[in-house]
Amino acid sequence: MAATYELHGDVAVITLANPPVNGLGYDTRRDFAAGIDRAMTDAAVKAVVITGGGRAFSGGADIKEFGSPRSIAEPNLLSLIRQLEGCTKPVVAAINGTCMGGGLELALGAHYRVALAGVDIALPEVKIGLVPGAGGTQRLPRVLGVETALNLIVRGEPVKSEVLAGVPGQKLFDQIATEDVVGAAIALGRAKAAEHAAGKPLPLVRDLKVRHPNPDAYFQFARNMVKGMSKNFPAPARCVDAVEASVKRRFDDGMTCEREIFFALMQTPECKALRHAFFGERAASKIPDVPEDTPQRRVERVAVIGAGTMGGGISMNFLNAGIPVTILETKQEALDRGVATIRKNYEAQVRKGKLKQDRYEQRMALLKTTLSYDDIKDADMVIEAVFEEMGVKEKVFRTLDDVMKPGAILATNTSTLDVDRIAAFTKRPQDVIGTHFFSPANVMKLLEVVRGAKTAKDVLATVMALGKKIRKTAVVSGVCDGFIGNRMIEQYSRQAGFLLEEGCTPAQVDKAIEKWGMAMGPFRMGDLAGNDIGWAIRKRRYVEKPGMRYSKTADLLCEMGRYGQKTGAGWYDYVPGRRDAIPSTVVVEMIEKHRAELGITPRQVSDEEIVHRLVYALVNEAAKILEEGIASKASDIDMVYLTGYGFPLHRGGPMCYADQQGLFNVVQRMKQFAANPHDDAAFWQPAPLLARLAAEGRTFT
Ligand code: NAI
Repeated sequence: MAATYELHGDVAVITLANPPVNGLGYDTRRDFAAGIDRAMTDAAVKAVVITGGGRAFSGGADIKEFGSPRSIAEPNLLSLIRQLEGCTKPVVAAINGTCMGGGLELALGAHYRVALAGVDIALPEVKIGLVPGAGGTQRLPRVLGVETALNLIVRGEPVKSEVLAGVPGQKLFDQIATEDVVGAAIALGRAKAAEHAAGKPLPLVRDLKVRHPNPDAYFQFARNMVKGMSKNFPAPARCVDAVEASVKRRFDDGMTCEREIFFALMQTPECKALRHAFFGERAASKIPDVPEDTPQRRVERVAVIGAGTMGGGISMNFLNAGIPVTILETKQEALDRGVATIRKNYEAQVRKGKLKQDRYEQRMALLKTTLSYDDIKDADMVIEAVFEEMGVKEKVFRTLDDVMKPGAILATNTSTLDVDRIAAFTKRPQDVIGTHFFSPANVMKLLEVVRGAKTAKDVLATVMALGKKIRKTAVVSGVCDGFIGNRMIEQYSRQAGFLLEEGCTPAQVDKAIEKWGMAMGPFRMGDLAGNDIGWAIRKRRYVEKPGMRYSKTADLLCEMGRYGQKTGAGWYDYVPGRRDAIPSTVVVEMIEKHRAELGITPRQVSDEEIVHRLVYALVNEAAKILEEGIASKASDIDMVYLTGYGFPLHRGGPMCYADQQGLFNVVQRMKQFAANPHDDAAFWQPAPLLARLAAEGRTFT
């Protein structure tokens, strides 16, 4: 049974029973409706309590059913709420835990509500680009007042029950219980049954008045606020429209208005992108050949090799999660520097009020440093973050193989080297895996988990779970040069270089793609990361792949010593102490000279061309990555770009964007790019998977 029925004397208790969060899937709705019917027809029942099993009341719609016919099959959520409102005996919602989305809308259909203190209450639909669709925008203002309700709906964030109970004049909760919320609800139901037996009508939220002293001015103000906060997303502004309807229209008309807005939003590309990202995040942890019940290894102590840029940030992730870390270095000075950086980062958080002093001290107490492998040999997992040189990695991994306890997970943070070769330095390649963090490692959400040819399934499952524990979006990548993210960005960078040769300036390219939504254009990004890193990679890569044509402008820039912000000059000029990118005449002259040497007559390149050459370069490489099985699904690629590369969320990632443009159109545009004599025609041959999907009228996702 997905909703159970129990009698407590003359009160029926119906409990939602669909773990983990009592999602309102079809089976749950059906059993719930049957329970209500039974309670109404049993003369011995005087009142009904509805509650949730486990730790949640209900998290809302069942995401497993999202978009399927089952999600709207009768009894749908609107029908359940109407059924509650039609009940002739008092119905009390006992909100025992998290109550979100459809769960809260259901509770608003009950006559009375008792909530446990400390539980999360939210209407989070805006986060997937929607407004609440089962009356939330009409009923919540009636119980919380317009302003509190609109805040809750527009932000989508959970608020604690007792906080809402403190809102002046609120009618959301009739009682707050500190324990035994079901017992309190049963008692309330019984008391109300007695009252209503004397003919007093049962209260409905829909009948409450909703007023605002100055609605026009208030909604205008709210619209302005929302516009500033969410320029790429239509849903927040539509939340304002829906709540405004609750004030200005009759209840049923307001409901119609909410429905219309809900369905209109459902069709927007932004909503599709947000839903894609929402499901993509969940799907990333599912690996086709690694079942969810794969046993995991225990990771209670971690060691990090190298206290540089990455080692420090990586360590912080584990300290934050309460996992002790020992950092190993070759020299005491390097350790001291690394620890000082970690302290500096934490202290900045303390200063900004984001971290409490005692939490900071607790975290630092979990950190140890050493120069000896003897001190880390019992760690459950070790993450190597030393210089990006195979020789150095080889020495480290041979030592790890000698000293680490059996079963320890041996991870490398390499960004470009072959994880299988690194694994082969040990006699336990099954225990070796790549954990590719992004810089700054304590901030960036993305973790590419690189699965070697011999990586054991339990190692992979353990590292994916650990990724979640340290609050990363962990995405599995196979072994290839650059893994998913950097292999794609190489093609994006090549296009950026060609665009310079054909007539663009760095600022023009950056502006076009930033206007489209990327957090940072390729040249500003290069200056931030350090242009010398790409230079070193190109030196290696294009020796190995001599046929791959690329623009030499980036090399010429590095030869001028312009590595980026760290040297005070890169693609742009910088004023000491500031990060503003100032267009550089020296760089533009360098580009013009190089262009003249190539014999290219500059032309005006449109923003549309800039955007599509950059983004479709990602898409074409991604199609190869997908077909080769380096990524197991298109949404994984999108998650890499959304969480690690500043790809605009409202576009859903490169694959989602290509799908929305139509793969046929993407291929057509690639053909035009291939005809450009200054571009790389071979690259623009659509990847076989892309060509096939386009021809069949299908999509990546
Ligand atoms: P880094 O140069 O800042 O730090 C490397 C540290 O390793 C230095 O403190 C050095 O003293 C130490 N080290 C060198 N050999 C050692 C050994 N044998 N034993 C112990 N410690 C040793 O380098 P960074 O940037 O932290 O990079 C580390 C790794 O992370 C590299 O593989 C790099 O490709 C990768 N990576 C770097 C990213 C970045 O943005 N910097 C991003 C993602 C990965």
